[in-house]
Amino acid sequence: MQVRKAVFPVAGLGTRFLPATKAMPKEMLPVVDKPLIQYAVEEALNAGISEIIFVTGRSKQAIEDHFDHFCELEHTLMARSKDALLKEITLLVPESGTFIYTRQNEPLGLGHAIWCARKIVGNEPFAVLLADDLMKSEKPVLKQMIERFESLQSSLVCVEEVDPTATASYGILDADPPKDRITRVRGLVEKPAPAEAPSNLAIIGRYILTPEIFDILERKETGAGGEIQITDAMARLLATQPIYGYRYEGERFDCGTKVGFQMANLSYALDRTDLRDRLLSFLRGTLNVCG
Ligand code: UTP
Repeated sequence: MQVRKAVFPVAGLGTRFLPATKAMPKEMLPVVDKPLIQYAVEEALNAGISEIIFVTGRSKQAIEDHFDHFCELEHTLMARSKDALLKEITLLVPESGTFIYTRQNEPLGLGHAIWCARKIVGNEPFAVLLADDLMKSEKPVLKQMIERFESLQSSLVCVEEVDPTATASYGILDADPPKDRITRVRGLVEKPAPAEAPSNLAIIGRYILTPEIFDILERKETGAGGEIQITDAMARLLATQPIYGYRYEGERFDCGTKVGFQMANLSYALDRTDLRDRLLSFLRGTLNVCG
């Protein structure tokens, strides 16, 4: 089956980014001049996804507004002949009915947020993208995964090797090192202490899931941190279906953390011809001062 739908859970509280995220969704934080959520939505659309499903929560209105018309702004840009900007912001507005919003009434965990999309996804495989993992790559990471899914027809999680001391921040696979970027999963553990971690292969924010995951999430079992975890649900899914890990090609920025977010801004800004030279001379000067 084809992957046509992508779920964007955006109902988290973003506590690691307070106070910035008190009234503004974490997913609207801009990397250079584009919010994180736009990078992730563009990745999905460039991977051939045709239906975008947001699982939102309180104070996430800005995300809906970002992907809608803003008539006053459009008229002003038109009157001032700012055609390029006008084109850029109107291109963001999808055809009606292709972006769908549903609510997670309480932030009970990522697994619960995904479960909230069950009626919209229905009985077909679907992608999940966490916008705070910003993926920089030539071929969109989700496209890389969809291509692998086409032959495997099984759930697939995106993975990266992390520092073995950092396993308690991730869902970790029990699996051999990937060959040709793929590894078959023997088990999954959410946030294990380094001594208990079965590997250093960490799950990062891209998934392709089969719809049977919803039956498991329906049980609403809580795990690490008292939250309903997608990693635990996938560990249960393993009893009836194979799951694979996919080592993506590209670079990941963990924009859920302050340091990862700063790195992303630097990296994306240095790619821009309009920003690169001034930024480089500033960086060189600063590094000289720092010794
Ligand atoms: P995080 O683990 O980064 O949680 O969620 P968070 O609340 O966004 O941020 P911190 O840890 O408090 O700083 C990963 C993704 O899952 C979504 C988040 O919006 C983020 O995209 N999520 C998490 C939900 O949609 N609902 C939840 O209940 C939890």
